[in-house]
Amino acid sequence: MKVLILNGSPRKGGNTELLLEELGRGLREAGCDFRLIDLPSLQIHPCINCGHCEQHGQCIFKDDMEELYHLIPQCRRIIIGSPVYFYGVTAQAKAFIDRCQVLWSRKYLLGTPKGTEEHRGYLVSVAGTSGKKVFDGVRLTARYALDAMGCSYCDELLVRDVDQLGAILKHPEELERARELGRTICQPAPNS
Ligand SMILES: Cc1cc2nc3c(=O)[nH]c(=O)nc-3n(C[C@H](O)[C@H](O)[C@H](O)COP(=O)(O)O)c2cc1C
Repeated sequence: MKVLILNGSPRKGGNTELLLEELGRGLREAGCDFRLIDLPSLQIHPCINCGHCEQHGQCIFKDDMEELYHLIPQCRRIIIGSPVYFYGVTAQAKAFIDRCQVLWSRKYLLGTPKGTEEHRGYLVSVAGTSGKKVFDGVRLTARYALDAMGCSYCDELLVRDVDQLGAILKHPEELERARELGRTICQPAPNS
């Protein structure tokens, strides 16, 4: 099974990265192969709403999204990781998500086959504060983006009150939750 982890945090050794690494450890323990892609290291031109993909299902920009357009439909599990930046995802994650308009167009306008129950999506996010609604924006964005990628929104791991670099290390229970999520993510969906 192909599992794709997309890290939207630009901070090296940051809290998102540490959680995603732990999730990867859990995946490995469960015998699942995965690919972790660091979105900030890619060249992704922002979407300009030219409408080309709505007609042709392809993007006019030939950059690192080309590989992702190829990879995403092959993946049965997709994990989006991003810290909260001003109640949303990071600019790097958002650039990637906006370019998923190609996948949205293929699915909703051009009629490519939709994902199955086995196409499942997840969100991993952290925030520096403890606000009740701090993950609302990120959750909505991730849910809609995963839908464009053909995945249903299955689970989320959200950690409040982690701000400084590596602050998540003081929360071993959250790291364990990430690892446990990794261990279980590849289990087949019920009734599949
Ligand atoms: C530009 C920017 C905007 C941020 N906006 C928020 C915010 O709206 N709410 C919040 O709780 N934390 C916010 N934070 C704090 C980050 O979510 C926090 O530092 C997080 O741990 C960073 O994750 P990382 O280590 O994976 O990069 C912001 C940080 C930055 C740099």
